[in-house]
Amino acid sequence: MIQTEGLHVQYRGKPALHDINLRVGQGFTAVIGPSGAGKSTLMRALNGLIPHSGGQILLDGQPLGHPGSARLRGQQRQMGMVFQQFNLVRRLTALDNVLLGGLGRVNPVMGALGLVPAAERAYGLHLLERVGLADHAWKRADQLSGGQQQRVGIARALAQRPSVILADEPISALDPRSSQEVMAILQDIQHRDGIAVLANLHFLDTVREYAGRVVALKAGRLVFDGTPAQLDPHLTRELYDQAPLPAGPPGLRLAAPVIVSA
Ligand SMILES: Nc1ncnc2c1ncn2[C@@H]1O[C@H](COP(=O)(O)OP(=O)(O)OP(=O)(O)O)[C@@H](O)[C@H]1O
Ligand SMILES: [Mg+2]
Repeated sequence: MIQTEGLHVQYRGKPALHDINLRVGQGFTAVIGPSGAGKSTLMRALNGLIPHSGGQILLDGQPLGHPGSARLRGQQRQMGMVFQQFNLVRRLTALDNVLLGGLGRVNPVMGALGLVPAAERAYGLHLLERVGLADHAWKRADQLSGGQQQRVGIARALAQRPSVILADEPISALDPRSSQEVMAILQDIQHRDGIAVLANLHFLDTVREYAGRVVALKAGRLVFDGTPAQLDPHLTRELYDQAPLPAGPPGLRLAAPVIVSA
């Protein structure tokens, strides 16, 4: 379970997230909001890639470790990241990219020498099969389509044996068919493996089809937390409207926050 309490994040003194209170323990949660709302910042802060300037981030009840600490590295292994641009090592095979995800558990010297235990290799192959890429395990990443690369990215995240997957616009660079395949895989992971998925998504149709819960950010504030069914047109208009939010506590005019999954 990832939990934030009064989370604040700023970039060189300029606030990007204000007072975010969020608990993600299970299910598929979509994060929506206009460009610049702070969606990527939230993902990066949750994973400890950027520091937070106030409040707390707790992973299974424990505060995130300090930057560079062994504790943070251990916590980061529990959070699989999936990126918009896949972030694969292009000249390595699909399988080697997946094995990189499991390196945190392999003796670093062995890992550096490319000596991956057989069980780890077998697990990597199993994960590639899981994402429908068993036949592509020995292809270089840069010879795969975007959708295939993203599926390798998901297999790499799973190789960490995470308890949560954080996906920052996992389908924004993909065509509709590849997008559906990737979303179906993320949904399957959440259902079958019980791994919570938190994903920034751009299209409300995708949110309605795949997410059980949606949280919305606007200008760095959490302004909605509920089910996709509660996202009525008035609310979405307000969300994407360029006008500033009305004064008052966030969510007041949109909807009372509803915690769907604890
Ligand atoms: N590295 C950075 N340095 C300074 N400011 C930043 C940095 N990254 C983001 N910001 C600012 O923080 C705010 C939130 O940005 P963020 O990238 O989290 O938004 P987003 O919701 O992910 O937007 P998009 O939908 O365009 O990806 C914006 O005002 C942005 O300009
Ligand atoms: Mg972003």
